[in-house]
Amino acid sequence: MASATGSVDLTVTVAGVRLANPLVLASGILGTEAAQLVRVARAGAGAVTAKSVSLEARRGHVNPSCVDFGPGLINAIGLANPGAAAEVELLRAARQELAQLGVPLIASVFGSRTDEYARLAEVVATAEPDLLELNISCPNVLAEFGEPFAANASSAAQVTAAVRRAVDLPIVVKLAPNVPDIARIATAVVDAGADAICAVNTMPGLLIDVESGCPILANVDGGISGPALGPIALHAVYHISQAVSVPIIGTGGAISVRDVLAMIMAGATAVGVGSAVYYHGIEVFAKLRDELADWLRDHGTSLADIRGMAHRRPQWPEPASLPPFPGSPESGGGEDGPKPAGGPGPHGEPQPGGER
Ligand SMILES: Cc1cc2nc3c(=O)[nH]c(=O)nc-3n(C[C@H](O)[C@H](O)[C@H](O)COP(=O)(O)O)c2cc1C
Repeated sequence: MASATGSVDLTVTVAGVRLANPLVLASGILGTEAAQLVRVARAGAGAVTAKSVSLEARRGHVNPSCVDFGPGLINAIGLANPGAAAEVELLRAARQELAQLGVPLIASVFGSRTDEYARLAEVVATAEPDLLELNISCPNVLAEFGEPFAANASSAAQVTAAVRRAVDLPIVVKLAPNVPDIARIATAVVDAGADAICAVNTMPGLLIDVESGCPILANVDGGISGPALGPIALHAVYHISQAVSVPIIGTGGAISVRDVLAMIMAGATAVGVGSAVYYHGIEVFAKLRDELADWLRDHGTSLADIRGMAHRRPQWPEPASLPPFPGSPESGGGEDGPKPAGGPGPHGEPQPGGER
């Protein structure tokens, strides 16, 4: 594939699978046709993820099911998909062309029970995708499916372990942002056999039309993506990367190259791109790829150097190494010694005796 990345190396490896660049088409975005997946690959994606599939076909929710509300998108597509048998055909067709382009294919599955995930994984594995993503975190089907597996470390681990036993494919587990401690869930799924983590799925949300007083989405609840999800996804990736050592596909709010850079600096190996396709079309992949290469070249650095950089920020010196506080016994002043000067403290805060 033609690339304007010049001498800059953008390749990354996720669970043993090589990507020519870290940009991954997120699940549910143009992943419902083989031709669409191939189009996105040709447009510069490093890997493409198919729409999540269930054992049986699903219609999904009625319209309105996806709305641009300004700071982001809210959707409740309801996991509409053609079912596993048709998906295998789709994946096979896509796989053949994607292999020629050198762009890995990620299949995505979801179910309502642990054994269903394992069965689905076996069926989908016959299409030989490069990676298998377990969507255990969709927020838009609560009424039907109840609490997502990703809400609980032990359920998340059970699904992962069942799929691990069922197939040899590398497994990516896609986590939900709306949990108190996402690093704990990530640790549980990695211990259960996940080879990589995708963080995050959409964040539950709701819009109301104030003229009618009605929720805007037909499903009432939806999942928020796009810029509004960005800092939430960064927070998730930052904390997951402190807890586990498997690669993370950081997903949520990557619209500009600075969002992509921040995600990698938080600890992501690859970056999921979803809503940006709505805002900028599939050309966004080549744009982000080339701007990423330019930024790395201009800054004389590499993906490996910036990955997890946010964890290596300069630390404040330990209190023992700070100069003694004026007037303290250590400074020779003692209680009766000179009074504090009252300038700003090391963090810029007012000091006793200074202006308040
Ligand atoms: C319209 C739409 C459909 C989606 N469908 C799926 C899906 O089928 N499976 C899944 O795991 N995530 C799905 N997602 C979530 C995305 O894969 C991604 O996690 C989320 O949109 C955050 O990334 P973004 O801010 O780049 O869009 C969907 C998102 C949108 C906007």
